[in-house]
Amino acid sequence: MTSWDVHRPPPAEGRTALVTGGNAGIGYFVAEQLAGAGATVVLGCRSADRAAAAMTAIRSRHPSAALSHLPLDLGDLPSLQESADRLDVRLDAVVLNAGMLFDGPDPDERTFAVNHLGHFALTARLAPHLSRNARVVTTGSFVAKSADFAAQEPDGKKVYARSKLAQMLFGFELARRGVFSVVNHPGGALDSLTPSRPPVHTRPTGFRLPLLQGKDAGAWPAVRCVLDPFVQSGQLWGPRLFGLRGRPHLEPVRGILADTALAARVWDLSVELTGVDPAAALLRRQ
Ligand SMILES: NC(=O)c1ccc[n+]([C@@H]2O[C@H](COP(=O)([O-])OP(=O)(O)OC[C@H]3O[C@@H](n4cnc5c(N)ncnc54)[C@H](OP(=O)(O)O)[C@@H]3O)[C@@H](O)[C@H]2O)c1
Repeated sequence: MTSWDVHRPPPAEGRTALVTGGNAGIGYFVAEQLAGAGATVVLGCRSADRAAAAMTAIRSRHPSAALSHLPLDLGDLPSLQESADRLDVRLDAVVLNAGMLFDGPDPDERTFAVNHLGHFALTARLAPHLSRNARVVTTGSFVAKSADFAAQEPDGKKVYARSKLAQMLFGFELARRGVFSVVNHPGGALDSLTPSRPPVHTRPTGFRLPLLQGKDAGAWPAVRCVLDPFVQSGQLWGPRLFGLRGRPHLEPVRGILADTALAARVWDLSVELTGVDPAAALLRRQ
């Protein structure tokens, strides 16, 4: 494995990446770090105002950053074709980062729809815009390893964990189906440990957990998955200290994450629910 300096990733001029949820949290820092390396970054987000705020914050650090906003609501499946049609750039990577934990009625359906089905369908819709060797980088979570699809509890955190497991299984299955696909997770990344980026984020005072890290560091694995030429399809990257914090390192894919039969079942269900097949769409493009 080669060394990797999270503060000095390789130059990325001439490369273009779409980051879903690039307006806030970890996605903001993925966008900031990719733009800082010279990549053109498209922020896929729901709110034009929040996208503009993120672009202002990034440009305050990288004045010549090449940035744009793609309107994107992952919870609105029919709108994803329209979002993809608005893209006027060729993508070398898409970072499937946006995520939520829905606490209202039907948390399972809503959370699964936004986190997993939205990204599943978006990947298919983006096919004509992804370059031949483009990387699909899926952001999962360490909580996915203990998720259980058989359980039906409407508990928000368990619902969230199942949606993250579905996303990670998707990322690995996409790689098995011949597309360059890498999975990453940010460890534990807290706003309270995240440096301020006005007007996007102001660091609150108070609560600290030394085992965890800020969202700036939470972005490192995804950035490495986009830019490191030695990263390979099918790999899993996460923070090196207990999978919770630190520099990105390669993790083994095992346990439920390596369950290929389960991944195939989730894939088939996702095709049924979205009406699209990202692997077929991406392979048609090649
Ligand atoms: N933070 C952690 O410790 C942690 C740990 C494990 C995994 N993760 C994963 O890392 C990713 C980022 O987490 P985070 O902590 O940065 O979350 P965050 O600060 O809450 O940001 C979430 C992002 O997702 C966007 N989003 C939510 N619903 C969306 C929708 N329907 N369509 C488009 N965008 C939508 C939000 O946009 P709006 O501004 O429009 O709401 C926001 O940009 C998520 O996938 C999460 O599951 C995080």
